Amino acid sequence: MTAARRPLIAGNWKMNGLTADGLALARSLAAAPEGVAELLVCPPATLLAPVASALSGSRVALGGQDCHAEEAGAHTGDISAGMLADAGCSHVITGHSERRANHGETDAVVRAKAAAAHRAGLVAIVCVGETEAERDAGEAEAVVAASLLGSLPAGARPGNTVVAYEPVWAIGTGRTPTVDDVVAVHAALRAALGDRGEAMRILYGGSVKPDNAAALLAPYDVDGALVGGASLSAADFLAIAGAA
Ligand code: PGA
Repeated sequence: MTAARRPLIAGNWKMNGLTADGLALARSLAAAPEGVAELLVCPPATLLAPVASALSGSRVALGGQDCHAEEAGAHTGDISAGMLADAGCSHVITGHSERRANHGETDAVVRAKAAAAHRAGLVAIVCVGETEAERDAGEAEAVVAASLLGSLPAGARPGNTVVAYEPVWAIGTGRTPTVDDVVAVHAALRAALGDRGEAMRILYGGSVKPDNAAALLAPYDVDGALVGGASLSAADFLAIAGAA
């Protein structure tokens, strides 16, 4: 980890939480003492406003879980990047594998969403990951590198983009790649990024828990974590942050 790449621990709450749960979680995180890692939470859209006020003045940043590629218009149920910024967000996740699988998002769609995030002044967290079949076929590094290059808009740079490597088969399953496998993929992604690679943060995501965080976060090429299930517990999320 270089000084230029401060670790980022991002919590993706997914479709979990009503106001009372979200506020309680946000208040616990807001009370966390200063630490090495930058902290970010991405609640469901309905909780953005109350969580924004609970986190106000704290070290924890706010992000959306997805955005539309356009700024406004007839897109029922969608949220624009500008709306996220207006709600207090500094970041947005784009191309999470659940969006890719459940909503048919291709690399081109993800690229357009990340570009919209940049136009709105948000940092895009661009997710890529291989399926289990692709890993078994020895294609993990090639698949994620190609997906990343297809998902990054032209203006992507270290200041407005974070990459998240999330093997599809590791998300929510309790299974993780070996640390060596994570390092190999992160190195391939960094190489694919070319000149931008050294300064751009690359997170690992997929079943990160307090008991595996230190090992997964230790390598030079791992700049933090995108945490799903464990981010719903303040104690677990802060324990993961403490391992960074
Ligand atoms: P998980 O989810 O930590 O529950 O595996 C990670 C993610 O989807 O970002």
